[in-house]
Amino acid sequence: MERLDTIEELAAHHGCGLVPTMGALHQGHCSLIEAMRRESDDVVVSVFVNPTQFNDPADLDRYPRTLEADLAAAEAAGATAVFTPPADTIYPLDRETWQPPLPRVATAPKLEDACRPGHFAGVCKVVARLFDLARPSLAVFGEKDWQQMLVLEAMVAEHPDRWGALQLRRGATIREPDGLALSSRNALLSPEHRERALGLSRALAVADDGEAAMRAVLDDHGLETEYAVIRDATTLEATQVDRPVRALIAAGLEGIRLIDNDAC
Ligand code: PAJ
Repeated sequence: MERLDTIEELAAHHGCGLVPTMGALHQGHCSLIEAMRRESDDVVVSVFVNPTQFNDPADLDRYPRTLEADLAAAEAAGATAVFTPPADTIYPLDRETWQPPLPRVATAPKLEDACRPGHFAGVCKVVARLFDLARPSLAVFGEKDWQQMLVLEAMVAEHPDRWGALQLRRGATIREPDGLALSSRNALLSPEHRERALGLSRALAVADDGEAAMRAVLDDHGLETEYAVIRDATTLEATQVDRPVRALIAAGLEGIRLIDNDAC
């Protein structure tokens, strides 16, 4: 497996299958790498903790960084290269990096964007830059971050001249046996908080009974609910009859913010 630090080294991989990550790789990330590998002989994993998408400086500071283990995990999952750019490669100091306009699905639902102002602007900015540098033919995003996945699908669809040949794939959420969705932030949870974090998946399990039922489960686990909603699965706006719906939750415990979602 190659380690790429520069734009020139990355350019040799144009047409690859790209798996953008912020590192601290777990089996969720590895499942995306494995899925890309089934479709592409050249799979590039990017590892970049993107400062522009963190609206909370404390969250950025304590975000786990485990590069050596990440290199081993990416290689074991079948990556052909890992791109680990310095910040000024992604954001050159001598000019502004292009900010893609935010798609409607980022702002209209008033979910993540309302709770984390600027978050999706930062995600779109870094992913647009990665796409422009890597020029992948395929890229994959996880359903764990359902709204992020929809936002990035919309961003690509709204720029056919730029990324017309790029196809996006979805990766199913990988969970612990007890239901907790794998997340890099889980490493920050104490054993007691780890137990309470199960409230998210348990709340999703009662989503058929409505939003109030989800909230009650979150409350029982001592979680601070930011939102627990049932929305149209594609627009994330109010549900309409005969359209697929999705239950989405964001909740915090002791300053650690967790999200999860499921079909219902
Ligand atoms: P990160 O949180 O590292 O996630 C990288 C990719 O892994 C995302 O597509 C995410 O949805 C997916 N993922 C996370 N947990 C997962 C799980 N349990 N099962 C399946 N897939 C999972 O998301 C980001 O980084 C960043 O916002 C990024 C897109 C890289 C832009 O900086």
